[in-house]
Amino acid sequence: MIKRSRIIGTGSYLPKRILTNDELAISVETSNDWIVERTGIRQRHIAADGETTADIAYQSAISALESADTSISDIDLIILATTTPDNTFPSTATKVQAMLGMKHGAAFDIQAVCSGFIYALAVGDNFIRAGQAKRVLVIGAETISRILDWEDRATCVLFGDGGGAVVIAKEEGSNGILSTHLHSDGRYSNLLYVDGGPSTTQSVGHLRMSGKEVFRHAVVNLASVVDEALAANSYQRSDIDWLVPHQANLRILSGTARKLGLKEDQVVVTVQRHANTSAASIPLALDEAVRDGRIQEGQLVLMEAMGGGFTWGAALVRW
Ligand code: UT7
Repeated sequence: MIKRSRIIGTGSYLPKRILTNDELAISVETSNDWIVERTGIRQRHIAADGETTADIAYQSAISALESADTSISDIDLIILATTTPDNTFPSTATKVQAMLGMKHGAAFDIQAVCSGFIYALAVGDNFIRAGQAKRVLVIGAETISRILDWEDRATCVLFGDGGGAVVIAKEEGSNGILSTHLHSDGRYSNLLYVDGGPSTTQSVGHLRMSGKEVFRHAVVNLASVVDEALAANSYQRSDIDWLVPHQANLRILSGTARKLGLKEDQVVVTVQRHANTSAASIPLALDEAVRDGRIQEGQLVLMEAMGGGFTWGAALVRW
């Protein structure tokens, strides 16, 4: 029997406050029509004053643990993907560990921006395959609103806050995470970055993006990593049941789906309501499609993401 890790529970959390495009158009020169036409985004959730990434990660973790019917005492590792940690250190993962009442095991953050969840899932999967962990809580959580330049219409309309989580567990059998595929290319760090940090400006900084160029790279890189994941498992594009992509722009999602020959309703899309929640977008979308019954046991689920770094990656899962 092949030993692999299986996603045994999913969870998510969105801050209560919803910010619509029309509300945004009051403070920056934009319009609902422009945002919807160029991105598909209609609204985003924004963390309340004092609500931190750790709070969002904690709520997502509780929801995933409940769905997995797992108690925190059974978790031996927490991996939190975030690009908006509560503090430079300690890691937000250790804060969440304490909030969950977990004193054993280990917890750490992963930074791969919008690809963070795929990176964290890959690390968790490999810990399980290597026999170093049995049950891993993998979280993607962000308060991206805190690093936006709210006067820059080219970026502030695109992002939102939220969190999602999965519990992965060692299982024997053919279902589970089939493979993960990670890539990065640091030559493009200037196309999507934050213009601050402890070692450079000693300030937090703001997100900066050359949207058009990121878009161009995203389409190419995502298509190539998707094919890599399928080839590694001897699958064809037509074998995919569900695409759960990082939610950056509806045009990117539709383009990827078209390239793969997937029908619109095989793609889990949440970008209209959540905007781009960076590392949280895939587990948020996954949780929605699992809870509403779209994703069923035995189906082939492909997740993919691309983000700052550049980083990109994919995970293929037999649910
Ligand atoms: O999650 C990480 C990965 N990120 C992504 O994948 C994002 C990839 N990029 C994108 O999604 C798109 O490039 C954007 C949504 C960011 C921009 O769409 P675009 O079709 O590439 O537009 P653009 O940047 O070429 O801008 C077109 C015009 C410009 O005006 P001019 O120069 O043509 O006069 C912008 O100034 O739209 C203008 N513009 C806006 N207008 C109204 C830019 N932002 C806005 C805005 N409202 N919010």
